[in-house]
This record gives sequence, C-alpha cells and structure tokens, in this order.
Amino acid sequence: MEKMTLHVDAGSGYDIIIGSGLIDSAGKYISSALPKAKRLFVVTDSNVSPLYGARLVASLEIESFEVHTHVVPAGETSKSAENLISLWEWMTAHGVTRTDAVVALGGGVVGDLAGFAASTVLRGVGLVQIPTTLLSQVDSSVGGKTAIDLSAGKNLAGTFYQPDLVLMDPDVLSTLPLPVFMAGMAEVVKYGCIWDPDFFDFLSARPDRAALTEDIGHILYTCCDIKRQVVNADERDTGLRQILNFGHTLGHAYELAGNYTEWSHGEAVAAGMVMAAKLGVELGVTVPEAPEKIEAVLAALGLPTRIPCGFEYIERAVGVDKKGSGDLVTLILLEDIGVVKRLKLKKSRVLEVLSAMSRR
Ligand code: GLY
Repeated sequence: MEKMTLHVDAGSGYDIIIGSGLIDSAGKYISSALPKAKRLFVVTDSNVSPLYGARLVASLEIESFEVHTHVVPAGETSKSAENLISLWEWMTAHGVTRTDAVVALGGGVVGDLAGFAASTVLRGVGLVQIPTTLLSQVDSSVGGKTAIDLSAGKNLAGTFYQPDLVLMDPDVLSTLPLPVFMAGMAEVVKYGCIWDPDFFDFLSARPDRAALTEDIGHILYTCCDIKRQVVNADERDTGLRQILNFGHTLGHAYELAGNYTEWSHGEAVAAGMVMAAKLGVELGVTVPEAPEKIEAVLAALGLPTRIPCGFEYIERAVGVDKKGSGDLVTLILLEDIGVVKRLKLKKSRVLEVLSAMSRR
C-alpha cells in the first residue's frame, strides 16, 4: 500500500500518515514531527502491548529516544481518574519535560486516556496517536478529543487537545477479532451516510472483511479526510462537528440499556443510525428509502440494525445528551444518503414521535 498523508489544520497543524508497516518506522516520523523530544512515554494496553509494543519501542530506540512504557488493563474501566493520576506520576517520576511526548498505542480507551494525560501534565506535552483499532483509526485518534469516564457517565471529563502526529498502520487491524473490526465499520458507514453517497455505495459493494481489507487504505483515507474537514471547520464541537454524532444519541440509549456490556459502541451506533433514519422519515426530513439502504449495508456486515430498548433509556439519552440545550435537542438527521441535516426540535416532540415509533 502506498503511504498516504492528510494534513489537519486544527491545533498547530499535524499530519495523519497512513501506511503498511508504519509501526516499524514510527520513530523516524516522530523525530521529524517532534524534533525537540528526548523522552517518549508510550501508553498502551494489555491486549496491544504483547502484539505491537516491542516493535514500536524498537523503532523508537533506533532513533535514540529514551522510551518509557506504561501498560493499562484493556477495557473501558481504564479510562479512569486513577489511571490519569498514575500517568502523571509516572511521567514526572521519569523527568518529563514540555518538549517530550506521549505516544498512545491502542484503541479509543488508550487514545482518550493518554491524550488527556498529555494535555494536562506540565500543562501540555507532545502527543502522538498510533491507533490500533478500526474505530480509533477512523474516529477517536483524529480531532483532539480526550477524556476519562466519571461515575455519572462516559467521557464526562476531558480536553480538546490536538495531537502532533497520527500514524495509522492498517496491518495492525489483522489481529482484531471480527466483531471489533465490524464495530469500527459502523463508524465507517456513518461517514458515507453523512457526507459521501459514493463512499456509501462503495461500502455496500464490499459486504465482508476480506473485500474491505483489500481496500482498507482507501477506506481509512476517505474517513479521515471527511473527519479532518469537519474538525477544521469546527474544532470545538459547537456546530458542524455534531454531524459526527449521527446515530449516537439513540446509540447511547442502547449502550445504556445493555449496561455498556451487551452492545459495543459500534453495534449500538449501527442500530442508532437505522433508528435515526427512520425518525427522519417520520419527521418528513429523510427520503423513505434511506433507512432500508442503511439497514442493508449494516446487516451485510453482521451489525445489529435494531436493538430492543426500554423507552426510559431513550428518554435519558435524549435528555442528558451533550448536544442538548434546555428544552431543545439538536437532531442529526439525513435528508438522503450523504446529505446530513442538523435540526433543533423540542425534546417533548422528539420523544412523542419516538414513543409512537416504539409502540409499532
Ligand atoms: N467522535 C466524534 C468527534 O470526534 O467529534
């Protein structure tokens, strides 16, 4: 696969580099993006460390970086305040300076936690994202959102902090279990829904992992290109960036109903996108054929297109959603595949329509 580079303007500007085998040449790219860095603080998890940790560290040491590694247990519970403090203590114990950098090697949990630590230790050090799941490659590693979870909910404390470099090696996706790969595909399909009808058709014609893997470079490039345009236009998530949450409000309801264990984020978003498309039809915004088309592409990938859920969870998700302001909720709807619309409606009206739909 040809190496491809995308430039994000947000923050002080950074490159997303996509290419096979990048894990083994990460040191070279990091030393050119962060020429003053001496120490690199690699944060990874217990799944990724045995697979790619040693290869990454070797590529960093060749460039004469002083490398320290911290492994957190794999899973969402690692996105905690306790782990954040441990990372601060660990970095300061090893003499971190403001020109040094954190390297996040892993999925969204590692990226969010390590990004938060990088944005806050010494009021901000360098940050390199090396995402290893499809979900983190097409979404969380780009755009600068960092977070930890609090007892009141996920991602409730965090910062906007753009990385200095994102390195994406598609080869690492080969070790992902199939459901984890497909959960990432839900976010990939989302980009087709909200932005690019041709990309949606391209995905519809590739209903299995082998076909998708053959074109993974194009898939990663297209998703990151869309995301960088959105982030460049609205880094702080006050307007256009909200379109990236298509399917997410209802998805949150499904995640909540399943106690965050029954359905992965991607699976919940898949069913959430179908329901959001149906809601759009009910509200007269979305063309009637759209839900069926979205359902077909997701079902072909083995993703859920409907998740039964008590109405109280939908009420909670619509009520507490971060996009809400007072009585109003901003819905992310489609006019058609590839044509997104943000619509502010009264929460009571939205819940009335969703309640009627859930009784059918
Ligand atoms: N994951 C949505 C965003 O980055 O805004």
